[in-house]
Amino acid sequence: MSVTTIIGAQWGDEGKGKVTDYLADSSKVVARSQGGNNAGHTIVVDGKKHKLHLLPSGILRKNVVNVIGNGVVVNPDVLLKELNNLEGERGQLLISDRAHVIMPYHKLLDGGEESSKGKSMIGTTGNGIGPCYSDKASRIGIRMGDLLDDDMIMERLEKALPRNQALLAHYGTKNDLTIDSLFALCKSWRKELGEYITDSSLLVNKHIDNGDNVLLEGAQGVHIDIEYGTYPFVTSSSPTTAGAALGSGIAPSKISNVVGVTKAYLTRVGSGPFPTELEDEVGEMIRDKGQEFGTTTGRPRRCGWLDLVMLELSHRICGFSSLAIMKLDILSDMDEIKVCVAYKDDKGSEVNHFPSSLSYLAKCEPVYKTFPGWSSSGIDIPKGIIPKEMKNFLDFISESLSIPISIVSLGPGRDETIIF
Ligand code: GDP
Ligand code: IMO
Ligand code: MG
Repeated sequence: MSVTTIIGAQWGDEGKGKVTDYLADSSKVVARSQGGNNAGHTIVVDGKKHKLHLLPSGILRKNVVNVIGNGVVVNPDVLLKELNNLEGERGQLLISDRAHVIMPYHKLLDGGEESSKGKSMIGTTGNGIGPCYSDKASRIGIRMGDLLDDDMIMERLEKALPRNQALLAHYGTKNDLTIDSLFALCKSWRKELGEYITDSSLLVNKHIDNGDNVLLEGAQGVHIDIEYGTYPFVTSSSPTTAGAALGSGIAPSKISNVVGVTKAYLTRVGSGPFPTELEDEVGEMIRDKGQEFGTTTGRPRRCGWLDLVMLELSHRICGFSSLAIMKLDILSDMDEIKVCVAYKDDKGSEVNHFPSSLSYLAKCEPVYKTFPGWSSSGIDIPKGIIPKEMKNFLDFISESLSIPISIVSLGPGRDETIIF
């Protein structure tokens, strides 16, 4: 039995959905533990693409219990749409009674806050994630479990709506929300989702005690973590190993494996520093070939070279037991490939620990090690054969970070995967 956590080691969109779906084959439980429908996890099964925002990536396997944990923020309308879009058999679903609800005013507020920031906007997904977590921290949020009780819905709305409407007025965002309309909405959500709402921590722990394999599916990535990301260009939750334990209601000591998922290069959606960003034809080639457009918003992703300085921080915070290196196929047939090993300031001094200073990150120059490229003709996935140049590239990453590589991904499909 094992409890395996899947963590995005970069700025999100590393391929966590593919890895989770792949490992879900041998798991009983898949639990999401933070974030909300800012996430977009893509799974490709038999050539068909499934985009999941809230449903855990084990949902396509009928024997898997899928849990939306207490650390997640849930937009019930998005969840219902996703459930209704599923075809064929699906796994069981449970939603934590402690997960917070994204209300219509949260989404409106996300838009208002972003517009007010002008040029310094974060580039959020606009889904009300930050405002919902803000209400949670301010202790005026509404939890999924509250939806089960009329008095509780009313009590919570009476606290939350006036404050959120005052904020909306501050941003000049018009709305016609009333306690009555929101009360009716909450009751309709209860009707549709009430059967799934439970104390999911008890259930996940029961499976762990039974010796079942459990997967904790991280969303987002370590470098948009509220604590350790490039603040304020971050999300509002903690996409780390610690966040995964707390957000699914298990003790951190129960986690046996932590898989850090990283692309063989690097992407970012939204604003914020990006030392290895490629604003040239190489970056465009990676974006086109890698289809680097947001799963949630469709925005073009910014592309750049792999950055080991970032990954060192991710490993330090999350303690990866192995790495999954994704999208190596996108770098095939390039003349050369670069990896950032340090940053250099204007006086020439180098750092190899990711700094917190945004002004340093904006000004620093990446120090690269350059590798010869490999030919796609040297790859034979069923036989587990990779070209020696790719092996050298992978060995360098593994040795530099002192983390073994457990998964190499060479395409979006389940069978385009080599397990080490
Ligand atoms: P997530 O948010 O971490 O789950 O990642 P996304 O789904 O947002 O983005 C990853 C994209 O890359 C998806 O479209 C996946 O289908 C795709 N993908 C995952 N692994 C590979 C791979 O090894 N090669 C290629 N070409 N595509 C991949
Ligand atoms: P997955 O799980 C990539 C980014 C947004 C924005 C910042 C804050 O698919 O990897 P938010 O809406 O969370 O307040 O936006 O965080 N962001 C993501 N970027 N992948 C994600 O999720 C993301 N979730 C949030 O683009 O820069
Ligand atoms: Mg994504």
